[in-house]
Amino acid sequence: MIQAVIFDLDGVLVDTAHYHFIAWKRLAEELGVNFTEKENEKLKGVSRMKSLEIILELGKIKLPDAEMERLATKKNEWFVEYINAMKPNEIFPGVKELITELRANGIKVALASSSKNAETVLNLLGIKQYFDAIVDGTMIVHTKPDPEIFLLAARKLNAPSRNCLVFEDAEAGVEAALAAGMRCVGVGTKEQLPKAHFIVEKTSQFTVTEIKKL
Ligand code: BG6
Ligand code: MG
Repeated sequence: MIQAVIFDLDGVLVDTAHYHFIAWKRLAEELGVNFTEKENEKLKGVSRMKSLEIILELGKIKLPDAEMERLATKKNEWFVEYINAMKPNEIFPGVKELITELRANGIKVALASSSKNAETVLNLLGIKQYFDAIVDGTMIVHTKPDPEIFLLAARKLNAPSRNCLVFEDAEAGVEAALAAGMRCVGVGTKEQLPKAHFIVEKTSQFTVTEIKKL
């Protein structure tokens, strides 16, 4: 029986995953690194610095720590610029309704995002009050695929892992959910997320009726 549903943010509740991609692509171009949507799959769900390391590895580039900090900050400034232009109606269709229905059915709802901008995004969308618990990139030591973020969210909701269901669009996120001993709905395609227990193209396609049957 599912007692708690834990949502990732970027790419699950809103298409900020796209803003992350275009900001990283802009940086990769400056560095002369070929970076496509395919390579971007590896960046989804992982921390800002880990993402930069992956891009530098692609270009076989080695840089001192201070330069890496500078580049990561620059990417983040672009990302923040993009999301500040975002409108509350960019939240994916049916997401607010899904969360409202879950809570009306006594199922707790948490957010678990690797992003240090999660709170800003939630405020921009006006949905902070929809969550019983929020865990973001400022509260964890290990990034997804480590299970830390989901275990912390479950602890905040007082729900055992086996009674938690995670919604994820990232390969690293699906792995983190599995490592936490939770079931996982992959938002995307079977090719992108082969390890997810269930696959939907859009978040709201997995209904409360289905969740209650698990
Ligand atoms: C995750 C995104 O939610 O947050 C990643 O999927 C991103 O693409 C990560 O790198 C960290 O985000 P931020 O906002 O702290 O740079
Ligand atoms: Mg995501």
